[in-house]
Amino acid sequence: MTDPFASARLGPVTLRNRIIKSATFEGVVPSALVTPELIEFHQRVAAGGAGMTTVAYLAVAPEGRTHAACIWLRPAAVPGLARLAAAVHARGAAISGQIGHAGPVANAASNGAPALGAVRSFNPMSMRATRACTETDIDRIVGDHAHGARLLKEAGFDAIEIHLAHNYLASAFLSPRFNTRRDAYGGSLENRARFARRIVRAVRDEIGTQVALTAKVSLHDGVPGGLRPPESTEFARMLEADGALDALELTGGSSLANPMYLFRGDAPRADFARVLPPLRRLAFRMFGKRFMPAYPFAEAYFRDMALTVRAAVKMPLILLGGINRLDTIQRAMAEGFQFVAMGRALLREPDLIARMQAGEATSGNCVHCNRCMVSIYSGSRCVLDHPAPIVAGEPVA
Ligand SMILES: Cc1cc2nc3c(=O)[nH]c(=O)nc-3n(C[C@H](O)[C@H](O)[C@H](O)COP(=O)(O)O)c2cc1C
Repeated sequence: MTDPFASARLGPVTLRNRIIKSATFEGVVPSALVTPELIEFHQRVAAGGAGMTTVAYLAVAPEGRTHAACIWLRPAAVPGLARLAAAVHARGAAISGQIGHAGPVANAASNGAPALGAVRSFNPMSMRATRACTETDIDRIVGDHAHGARLLKEAGFDAIEIHLAHNYLASAFLSPRFNTRRDAYGGSLENRARFARRIVRAVRDEIGTQVALTAKVSLHDGVPGGLRPPESTEFARMLEADGALDALELTGGSSLANPMYLFRGDAPRADFARVLPPLRRLAFRMFGKRFMPAYPFAEAYFRDMALTVRAAVKMPLILLGGINRLDTIQRAMAEGFQFVAMGRALLREPDLIARMQAGEATSGNCVHCNRCMVSIYSGSRCVLDHPAPIVAGEPVA
């Protein structure tokens, strides 16, 4: 049986084991640049035994940020990112950066720029209209991804993960629910996938073959009329045929319309209402239950859908979603997944992997209360263990 703790190849890169810390937005970059707290966050994960840590959401353009306190990839960010990469490497882990464009998920008010979508729509959470991308926008944003990826390569990152999920921009284009365009980017799956495939190709062409390239893709949007199997499986086949990626990380849900589908477990509605400005808080009180229904937690909750993709493609796959136990990791290997990714379990216990490897733990302590979701506004952490906010310092030079 494949040993999850043995080293493994991810494209051109060797990871010390098969466990990847998934992107969990760290919430410690108020000036959109790397801070000591961001470095500390990833140092802890690296020292805790994961094979690779993923620096969460790095926008490729200013209007593609989820909100203003989010790094966007520009030359000024490179020195800090290089410091971050070196700190992770010093603790034996590899480092990946998640790049993307938030599209309709972007907070337009905070960014001071309209959010972009596949089509024009109204976002009740930001109380603003989302503008439809023109073909000029699409061409520019494809180039922005390539440019952002090049900056991460310059900073010494081992891998790049393209965010093609959760109804961020590329995923909104993929979704029949959020894309009713009538041009070459709407209609058939082939057309809806065109934008994402152009991004992947452009990034690979830009970074060459020495940096690993993965994509986070949705199995199911979790919203009526959204992307779901078998289309998501067909999309995985397209990406495999394109040959530009080293692995796919499988996820689901919609940050736009159904975030709890991503997570399962308790819906932290009260915490969430507290961080909203008054008008949006009122709207959330009215529609919050619809926007944030709770789904029962189950270990490895995307496994069944992920197995369908496993049967359809040969390329390496990363299983994600509710992985908390060592036997789940081992079963994932036995079922043909090359890697697993873990988010909340390592947010709570960054040293869980080292302890599992040493035979000191067989499962994590995360209880899926999901209150960490809301902690992104005050420094992402397990609020059960660390109730106090994290105050981020000045950016590192
Ligand atoms: C606090 C927090 C922040 C997150 N931020 C991101 C993000 O920036 N990008 C992303 O793709 N997923 C993000 N996620 C989702 C995780 O990467 C992962 O898909 C999800 O938590 C399910 O995996 P898990 O059950 O191992 O936690 C976030 C999750 C949490 C809890």
